[in-house]
Amino acid sequence: MRFSLLILALTSLLGVLAKQPTAHYRDLPTLRKQDELEKAWVQKRYELIPSILKKYGYDAWILSMREYAEDTAFRALVSSTTTFSARRRTLFMFHTDPSVPSPFHYVELKEELWEALNETLHKVDPKKIAVNIDEDMAFSDGLHTGEGRLLLSKLGPYADRVSSERGIGVETVAARVGGEEQLSMYKLMMENVWAMVQEGFSERAVEVGKTTAEDLEWWFRDVMRWRFGTGTWFPPTVNIYRSPAEPSAEEDPYMRPGDLLHVDIGITAMGMNTDTQHLGYILRHNETSPPASLIKGLHDANKLQDFVRKQMVPGRTGDEVFAKVSADMEKAGLKGRIYSHPIGDYGHSAGAIIGMANNQGPISGGGQNKVLENYWTSVELAGVTYIPEWGIEQAFELEEDVYWDEKTKTFEWVFGQQTEIHLVKPKYSHKKHSWLTLAAGKLGWEVVKWQ
Ligand SMILES: *[C@@H]1O[C@H](CO)[C@@H](O)[C@H](O)[C@H]1NC(C)=O
Ligand SMILES: *[C@@H]1O[C@H](CO)[C@@H](O)[C@H](O)[C@H]1NC(C)=O
Repeated sequence: MRFSLLILALTSLLGVLAKQPTAHYRDLPTLRKQDELEKAWVQKRYELIPSILKKYGYDAWILSMREYAEDTAFRALVSSTTTFSARRRTLFMFHTDPSVPSPFHYVELKEELWEALNETLHKVDPKKIAVNIDEDMAFSDGLHTGEGRLLLSKLGPYADRVSSERGIGVETVAARVGGEEQLSMYKLMMENVWAMVQEGFSERAVEVGKTTAEDLEWWFRDVMRWRFGTGTWFPPTVNIYRSPAEPSAEEDPYMRPGDLLHVDIGITAMGMNTDTQHLGYILRHNETSPPASLIKGLHDANKLQDFVRKQMVPGRTGDEVFAKVSADMEKAGLKGRIYSHPIGDYGHSAGAIIGMANNQGPISGGGQNKVLENYWTSVELAGVTYIPEWGIEQAFELEEDVYWDEKTKTFEWVFGQQTEIHLVKPKYSHKKHSWLTLAAGKLGWEVVKWQ
């Protein structure tokens, strides 16, 4: 106990960050089991929607769509493992009348669909009906124009009760309804992402002098597809950052000792998406860790990550969080850019947007959305730190997803926080075979080859 207190005191004294966890590849459930899980989560979302309607003063919410012209909220209403698109004309009406089953759900192209809707409308008799039309927010703007015209023409006397409310689509899509079970699956996905990045940014995947950023991007695609069987919502990108004194990555795309590597990567499974950015470093022959300046760059960016995580107080708008984080950065004398976004059923999902990469200020639409407890956010940002060895300011781009922890009442990292740069340790050969290297050796030059 006393010993751990001492460690605690020492670590806080030195400002040492928590050691990052080691990840392992782990099997996801069978697709059949994934579908079962997703269907249970979707059911819980159905049960939640009436309370969202009441919060915004609505009695019903109608979503009408056709195959391939789905509403943007559709994905949040079905299991992605077995339902890929809407069929025929697909209609959902969620409502607040407990004596009538909600949602009314009908799939049909014939007139009987409208008759059935009319019947349900007369039973529920909603005073205020929401539809998804919004100028700013995609998740609340899923009613296609033609579909909307037809719907209104079919609503008869109820057409006058229709209006739009942005919050309903946003909160429905944002809601993480599967509790601990869904979170445990999300953690499982995230651990696989970490395991993949740890392997990708190591000598097992990187061959110095041979591997390019593009090679590694395709390597990641194959690993996620074939090693643990998931898709993705964007192709991973790998970047090489190096000293301006060396040939640029455009001139020499092959990874070199001393390169700082960056990856932006996410996977998709069970209707969930992840988004992660990590850094790696290729050790030089005489190094056992990256230069102190690069480690400092990572730790500066870690501080920004913690600012965002802590300022994400439920009820604050994205713009308010952004302003608080900017003040924290100013106080700490740290430079950087903040561009964090909600994540879940969509990679860039519904909820509070905290800055954008190309707009470091208030964000129209998403910036006014509030931080919610029951949703996830991708804390995405770049710390900017001067690297004396390179003579430039370098962006340290990091991204890590957070969830609301009921016990600590804060947003916590889904799997962990990268506090150590992943290391590629090339197998340097110090053998001096050739005549020239022998001569060079005699002259006192250090000649080292990588395999
Ligand atoms: C809608 O349903 C009501 C009540 O059942 C009925 O009186 C009315 O005729 C129906 N309207 C249409 C257009 O079918
Ligand atoms: C490693 O070797 C390089 C030359 O190859 C030198 O510039 C650098 O200072 C050395 N670094 C350390 C930590 O010894």
